[in-house]
Amino acid sequence: MPPFPFQPAAAPAVGLSIIAADLRHLDAMMAVMHAAFDPLFGEAWSAAQLAGTLTMPGCWARLSLAGAVATGFSLCRAMGPEVELLLIAVDPAQRRQGIARRLLARAQEDGRARGAAELFLEVREDNAAALSLYAGAGFAEVGRRRDYYTGKDGSRRAAISMRIALPE
Ligand SMILES: CC(C)(COP(=O)(O)OP(=O)(O)OC[C@H]1O[C@@H](n2cnc3c(N)ncnc32)[C@H](O)[C@@H]1OP(=O)(O)O)[C@@H](O)C(=O)NCCC(=O)NCCS
Repeated sequence: MPPFPFQPAAAPAVGLSIIAADLRHLDAMMAVMHAAFDPLFGEAWSAAQLAGTLTMPGCWARLSLAGAVATGFSLCRAMGPEVELLLIAVDPAQRRQGIARRLLARAQEDGRARGAAELFLEVREDNAAALSLYAGAGFAEVGRRRDYYTGKDGSRRAAISMRIALPE
C-alpha cells in the first residue's frame, strides 16, 4: 500500500474530519504518537507494535484530519461485548480544540456499531488532561492498579481503570 502523506503540523484544526485508519496511515499516526506522549513513561508505541495491532482482528483505528493535516488518532480493540480504548492522542499543536472529545465519541459509536455494551480504558493517575477528558465524557473509575507505570526516573504511577456503558 502507498504511504499516507499527511503529517502533523502547527496549523489550527479547521474542518476536522475523522476517518478510518489502516496501515497506509501508519506514518501519520506515528508522527502524532511521537509528538503527543511524554517520553518519561514510555507510553508511546513503536511502529511495529502499532502495525501489528492494526492488523489484528477486532482492532481498529481512527485518524483525525484538519484538511490534510493529521491531528490525532485513536486505537481500539473489541473483545466480545467489551471494547478497550488502547490509545488516544492529539498533536500538542492541535490541543484544546475538542479533537480528543470527537475521537472518543467516535470510538463509542464504533463500539456500539460492533455490538459492544461497554468501553474500558486505563489512564495514568497523574494524566490530568486525559482524566478530565474521560470524566467529562461520562467515564467512571472502576479500578486502580498500583505501580502500573514506571517512569524512566524510576517513579511509579497507578493506572486508573475507567468504564462507560454503550447503550443501544
Ligand atoms: C489527553 C489528550 C488526548 C486531550 O486531547 P485534546 O484534543 O487536547 O482534548 P480536547 O480538546 O478534546 O479536550 C476535551 C476535554 O479534555 C480535558 N482536557 C484536555 N486537555 C486538558 C488539559 N491540558 N488540562 C485539563 N483538562 C484538559 C478538558 O476537560 C477538555 O474540555 P474543555 O476544553 O471543554 O475544558 C491530549 O492531551 C494528549 O494527546 N495527551 C497525550 C496522550 C495521552 O495522554 N493520551 C491519553 C492516554 S492513552
